[in-house]
Amino acid sequence: MYLPSDDSIFLSNIVNDYHGQLALEIGTSSGTIFRELSKNFSIVIGTDIDFNSLKHSLMMSKNDRLICCDAATALHNVKFDLIVSNPPYLPNAKNHTDKTVDGGPTGVEVLIHFLTSVIDKLNNNGKILILVSSLSDKGKLERFTSKNNLIKKQIAQKDLFYETLQIIELSK
Ligand SMILES: C[S@@+](CC[C@H](N)C(=O)[O-])C[C@H]1O[C@@H](n2cnc3c(N)ncnc32)[C@H](O)[C@@H]1O
Repeated sequence: MYLPSDDSIFLSNIVNDYHGQLALEIGTSSGTIFRELSKNFSIVIGTDIDFNSLKHSLMMSKNDRLICCDAATALHNVKFDLIVSNPPYLPNAKNHTDKTVDGGPTGVEVLIHFLTSVIDKLNNNGKILILVSSLSDKGKLERFTSKNNLIKKQIAQKDLFYETLQIIELSK
């Protein structure tokens, strides 16, 4: 399970500025960001590929749901006002695997997989909020967003001693 860290707190503070009916978080784990979403959205759905992480998620409101699945692949015929993810974003380590942090060979492949699974589930006026790190290949992400006609806006930046974190908002 991913223990809430600087990145989780950073994104959960930003999420507070968004309101609406339906929100989705991909990679919920123990629910730090999910609980913030729940304050401002009528219904929140969280997914995680790791069932054990979801088991540790604390109390939710009666309208909220957690689903163990890959990205948003279990969801159909639904459109969200806000889709959020603090994805695994580190380039894969050579000698071990950890699905909570391994973002693929250049650190953005898992995020691109998440985005691919949610593009058709975003309301026309909806927003996607993602966390990206200076340690991953932002050029590859940039090419993906341009190819899919997503408008990109930087919402916040945080410098840590080993990396810089950015929160990016995407819209259609
Ligand atoms: C960096 S952690 C973020 C956890 C939590 N949202 C937070 O901010 O503290 C990334 C999460 O994504 C989950 N994850 C990894 N691959 C996934 C996939 N293909 N589909 C859904 N969740 C996935 C991991 O299990 C992990 O809980």
